Amino acid sequence: MGMLEGKVVLVTGAGSGIGAATARLAAEEGAEAVVVADVNRDAAHAVANEIGSAASSAELDVTDEASVEALIRCCVETFGRLDCAHNNAGINGPGFGFDMPLEDWQRMIDVNLTSVFLCMRHELRVMSAAGRGAIVNTSSGAGLVAAPGLPHYTAAKHGVLGLTKAAASEYATKGIRVNAVLPGSTRTPMLEQFMSLAPDIEKMITRSVARGSLGAPNEIAEGVVWLLSDRASFTSGTSLVIDGGSICR
Ligand code: NAI
Repeated sequence: MGMLEGKVVLVTGAGSGIGAATARLAAEEGAEAVVVADVNRDAAHAVANEIGSAASSAELDVTDEASVEALIRCCVETFGRLDCAHNNAGINGPGFGFDMPLEDWQRMIDVNLTSVFLCMRHELRVMSAAGRGAIVNTSSGAGLVAAPGLPHYTAAKHGVLGLTKAAASEYATKGIRVNAVLPGSTRTPMLEQFMSLAPDIEKMITRSVARGSLGAPNEIAEGVVWLLSDRASFTSGTSLVIDGGSICR
């Protein structure tokens, strides 16, 4: 038996990095259906194609409530239910420091925080009606400590933890568990792009990881899939740090 045997799973930001790794692992762990959702339709399509028949792709902008609502409705109409959701889509820029343009602040809050509220609002509705469900939100080490120069990212990722706790406590009696993962520096296109900005950044970031090497997306996905699975049946409202021992130093 796989950990997600027979489950219907939605993953946002699944066209790349951590979301793509969750979608792949969910299928390997027996999910009946994996919805690979991303604002980048081609990337979502490529990941779903690679996974095979259990996966389908969808274009989704997590900042657009109508788009979120329509996709979740479509999941329920197509597969009969939504068992698990990984709200993972995110960005790490633009914007730097407290003098950033207000529109950079707003964009970050929209994509990294309001999106989690919007996705959960519609996921919780269908899961409540079914009387069960599991949600994992992607926060970050920046959900616990400041990411230097990124007040908007730091605020959004702290906010994701607050939303996770609010939903977990409110929906515990309805059979729904809500948790967060806090990845450390993980080698994904987002981090690769950031590391390409200057020659020394990769060395600096790698040194900041206690084990001395970056995380791999599947190392984060392992935690996500466990939290989504029934094996985590007594785990809700928790923040699972997956960072090779970095933040505890
Ligand atoms: P990535 O850039 O490889 O993947 C993010 C995906 O989200 C992309 O496919 C992108 O198209 C999608 N996306 C962006 N805006 C969207 C929108 N409005 N609607 C739908 N999809 C959208 O990045 P990565 O690293 O896999 O990041 C995934 C999550 O993990 C993000 O929330 C990020 O903040 C978080 N994270 C990443 C860390 C890292 O070191 N890579 C560390 C801590 C947290």
